Amino acid sequence: MDYNSALNEERVNNIDDVVDADKEHVWHHMMQHKQYETIDPRVFVEGKGMDLWDAKGQYFLDAMSGGVWTVNVGYGRESIANAMRDQLIKLNYFAAATGTVPASLYAKRLIEKMPGLSRVYYSNSGSEANEKAFKMVRQISHLHHGGKKYKILYRERDYHGTTLGTLAATGQLQRRMDFGPFPEGFVEVPHCLEYRSQYGEVENYGERAADAVEEVILREGPDTIGSLCLETVTAGGGVITPPKGYWDKIQYLCKKYDILLHLDEVVCGLGRTGKWFGYHHYGIKPDIVVAAKGVASGYAAISITATTEAVFDKFKEDANNPTSYFRDVSTFGGCTAGPAAALENMRIIEDENLLENTTLMSERLLNNINDLAQRHEVIGDVRGIGLFCGAELVTDRKTKEPVDEKSIQAVIADCAKNGVLIGSTNRSIPGMNNTLCLSPALICTADQIDEITSAIDAALGRVFA
Ligand SMILES: Cc1ncc(COP(=O)(O)O)c(C=O)c1O
Repeated sequence: MDYNSALNEERVNNIDDVVDADKEHVWHHMMQHKQYETIDPRVFVEGKGMDLWDAKGQYFLDAMSGGVWTVNVGYGRESIANAMRDQLIKLNYFAAATGTVPASLYAKRLIEKMPGLSRVYYSNSGSEANEKAFKMVRQISHLHHGGKKYKILYRERDYHGTTLGTLAATGQLQRRMDFGPFPEGFVEVPHCLEYRSQYGEVENYGERAADAVEEVILREGPDTIGSLCLETVTAGGGVITPPKGYWDKIQYLCKKYDILLHLDEVVCGLGRTGKWFGYHHYGIKPDIVVAAKGVASGYAAISITATTEAVFDKFKEDANNPTSYFRDVSTFGGCTAGPAAALENMRIIEDENLLENTTLMSERLLNNINDLAQRHEVIGDVRGIGLFCGAELVTDRKTKEPVDEKSIQAVIADCAKNGVLIGSTNRSIPGMNNTLCLSPALICTADQIDEITSAIDAALGRVFA
């Protein structure tokens, strides 16, 4: 049966050829394939809202928005598909050295949500958008600082992408290992996860964690540092919500030492935290903001690197110098399907009040997980903001010894067996892939939240009986 006839069958149930083709030819991301010699890979066929069906006909409630916190407005949005279709028929592409209607309109709409920023640079993935920011910093260093201020600070436990440049800026050993050597000039600062405080019990952990950043700045020399690249809320490194006082101090340090603040909002951006951007919770004034996953909820591959006018201006000061502008290009940054989808994605978030729903459902989700923590000793810490939550599992609440990965995977498998897809930190920090992750779509209902946490309740009961 070909794919289209398969799709035409209601709730496609048995498409063995497709599963066989996948098994024989598809190289999956982040997967050890030996297992597929004895089991079949999971192949998804259809999604609607937060519901998913796989090729074996099994139904799932998706609590991870497409596995990696992406499908913010849910599956099966015909209006996004229609917006893309109409735009593709009218004009599918022109290189982004030139303007197109959706790119222009989306930039305007986006910037309305980002006071203080004014320019949008388009590309196709979170990694690429972060690379653009790094390249801006490096070019500014050459154009304006005589080659100084070239270093890029990044934080332990943060992740910024899959390319060698972004891996050089990634504070997760398991994502980096075996891929070196890396580009030079990337320097790590300590993490800010209070639950795993590096400084013992301190009164104001947030300030202490930011002081640790200042120590690195002073050690390296402020005149060598161009930018500080941070996830506003760390995602795959453990769902780390910033401790109180952290962002105020970080903002102060960036001003004091003339360091550009580059925020990675690839996960936080576009509503995931209950505001348009995660940084809107903390009163931060970034110089560069990167967003990707939720920009078009996975309907199109689009990412943005947004900057202040001051950053932008650094690339047009010397019009007589033929190489002084931002000499970067992204072929598919000129695809019009991305901004067309992103415009409709934004309209949906607004018209369906999804920011408000996210805040409301977040409360329920966090309450439910905190209730679970009353009954399951294995939950050591609950963290989260918006529909972006994590539960760190430990064998002992006093020693905080992380549970082993097999147990975490058993919890995930148990939930999946019972029709709920949840996630976990995955190949991040050695021995620390022990946080369950939840990021349901921004459309989720109270019943769906309860269904997700009930599945976790039952799974924890069975796995840690
Ligand atoms: C915080 C963060 N930044 C960057 C990326 C890289 O994005 P992409 O996979 O689209 O390149 C990810 C991906 O998971 C991410 O979580």
